[in-house]
Amino acid sequence: MPNAVISGTGMYVPDNIVTNDDLVSQYGIDTNHDWIVKRTGIEARRFAPEGIGSADLAVPACEQAIEDAGLQKKDIDMILFATLSPEHCFPGSGVYLQEKLGMPEAGHFCPAMDIRNQCSGFLYGLGTAASMVKAGAVKNVLVVGGETHSAALDLSTRGRAVASLFGDAAGAVVVSASDDESRGIRTWKLGADGRYADVLAQRVWDVRKRPFIPVDENGVGQVQPEMMWAQMDGRLVFKNAVERMIMGLMEVCWKEGITMNDIDVFAFHQANLRINQYVAQQLNVPEEKLLQNIHKFGNTTAATIPTLLAEAQREGRLERGMKVATVAFGSGFTWGAALIDW
Ligand SMILES: CC(C)(COP(=O)(O)OP(=O)(O)OC[C@H]1O[C@@H](n2cnc3c(N)ncnc32)[C@H](O)[C@@H]1OP(=O)(O)O)[C@@H](O)C(=O)NCCC(=O)NCCS
Repeated sequence: MPNAVISGTGMYVPDNIVTNDDLVSQYGIDTNHDWIVKRTGIEARRFAPEGIGSADLAVPACEQAIEDAGLQKKDIDMILFATLSPEHCFPGSGVYLQEKLGMPEAGHFCPAMDIRNQCSGFLYGLGTAASMVKAGAVKNVLVVGGETHSAALDLSTRGRAVASLFGDAAGAVVVSASDDESRGIRTWKLGADGRYADVLAQRVWDVRKRPFIPVDENGVGQVQPEMMWAQMDGRLVFKNAVERMIMGLMEVCWKEGITMNDIDVFAFHQANLRINQYVAQQLNVPEEKLLQNIHKFGNTTAATIPTLLAEAQREGRLERGMKVATVAFGSGFTWGAALIDW
């Protein structure tokens, strides 16, 4: 059975930096820097310009990851695109990315699949890719997390509790087959609790209704604010996030027969610095072992973990031989954790 390793990483964020103060001065939101930093650790986020979607953000991240893996686009056997902000209802972002990478023009028609697991999407993708590689079905899988939140945030005081948290970014890894036994994606554990599906959701439409979006007398769709924008019970999310993240990390360590002390680097999903600090504290993990980028990018959902890995690799914080633990929790509720020998 081949081993599944992360052979390359890449990331991309749009240029436009939106600070907490900008939320007040540019968007007129009744908030302030100290409130946001105290509760979340977020100081700024990036917003993509109009006309740019999640697949656009993913292109440079994927090109970087493919190059870093020492591969070419034609070597990619499959694309797994994790996003909650696809360009359209359908098709998914994966096919747009495949086209933007120039694959069809080059006669390369690799499958492209979207993963709809929000903040856990990247880890659902990583587990799927590793399973397929280990099964011998594919050799190189591009796993990408990309989000364009800025288009779908209620950037007003009404929406401040959600709008102040999210940013745009893309991160990618290549998962490859390898005979090298010293490294690899060792174990992963995914979970979901659908009882909480409505606690963090952006509904937009409801296909149980006829029509699925209310229409006015001229047949023009009218989406009410509570359907259009993401809704969240922040405290319930916070409580469940810490419990599930702690449990997920303990489960993967237990499965591999190691302790938290054996792990060199932790790549936690970046939803809230306070969540991550609490999880680390409960597990006796020193903060220096945590990779963090929430302060500058906010919560970039499926992109948080691959951007952390790409940044850490470039900064020399990730070296061959290190043990990496990663964990995520989000809408669904869904969660996942994985252990990687880098
Ligand atoms: C969102 C979160 C920071 C809110 O913090 P909180 O302490 O729970 O705050 P609450 O939602 O109870 O709101 C407290 C008050 O602050 C206000 N508030 C919310 N967002 C605000 C903002 N950006 N600026 C200023 N005030 C804000 C609320 O309107 C509320 O005012 P009220 O008491 O007059 O009604 C926190 O719940 C959280 O981080 N939860 C996890 C969210 C998350 O990680 N989501 C993504 C998961 S993948």
